[in-house]
Amino acid sequence: MSHLIAPSVLAADFANLQRDIEMINASEADWFHIDVMDGVFVPNISFGMPVISAIKKHAKKLMDVHLMIVDPDRFIKDFKKAGADLLTVHYEACKHLHRTVQAIKQEGMQAGVSLNPHTPIAVLEDIIKDLDLVLIMSVNPGFGGQSFIDNTYKKISQLKEMIEKTGSNALIEIDGGVNDKNAKKLVAAGAKVLVAGSFVFKSDDPTRTIHELKLLKY
Ligand code: DX5
Ligand code: ZN
Repeated sequence: MSHLIAPSVLAADFANLQRDIEMINASEADWFHIDVMDGVFVPNISFGMPVISAIKKHAKKLMDVHLMIVDPDRFIKDFKKAGADLLTVHYEACKHLHRTVQAIKQEGMQAGVSLNPHTPIAVLEDIIKDLDLVLIMSVNPGFGGQSFIDNTYKKISQLKEMIEKTGSNALIEIDGGVNDKNAKKLVAAGAKVLVAGSFVFKSDDPTRTIHELKLLKY
């Protein structure tokens, strides 16, 4: 399987959201990446169910919802209803991660777990086989447009090794500061899904930028 591109809607123009959704639909992007922030787990607030439901009405690709919220268990059913296909929670935000992952799957969604830059890969050892995706944060979560943290490459190879050793089917997703300088190296290291916000939406031609990320034309 070649790598997937998931543009982050956080960097879209919210006053022209439908236009930007149609751009993603018509592009070579594979998924919609949807960032939910609660102002508690991260020092920023993004958007919630009404906006996700509105995106879902037009989106023709998988809805990859990244929850940066405390105690996500409270809202699993609501995110399903709003249109999430894949729901990713933060390791640091869950007291009973195994229970949370099972609850996501029971709702018929794929389950992902995300790790902050300071959280070692090893904490996933006893849950990796249950996961459809691991999201390695390559910036501290909370904001778009931050610089990529180089330690991410090491974490990708550690995670790749854990996945191969355990026979897990989890995809490795990288989120934060993805651009033309690191995309190729990330995929070479084992990343399967690249999230890109600013690099796509702040470019002159987002459709072309997605095309180039897909081809790793750098
Ligand atoms: C950060 C979010 C990211 C963000 C990425 O907390 O999880 O998905 O939108 O934005 P860029 O690509 O601009 O770093
Ligand atoms: Zn994200």
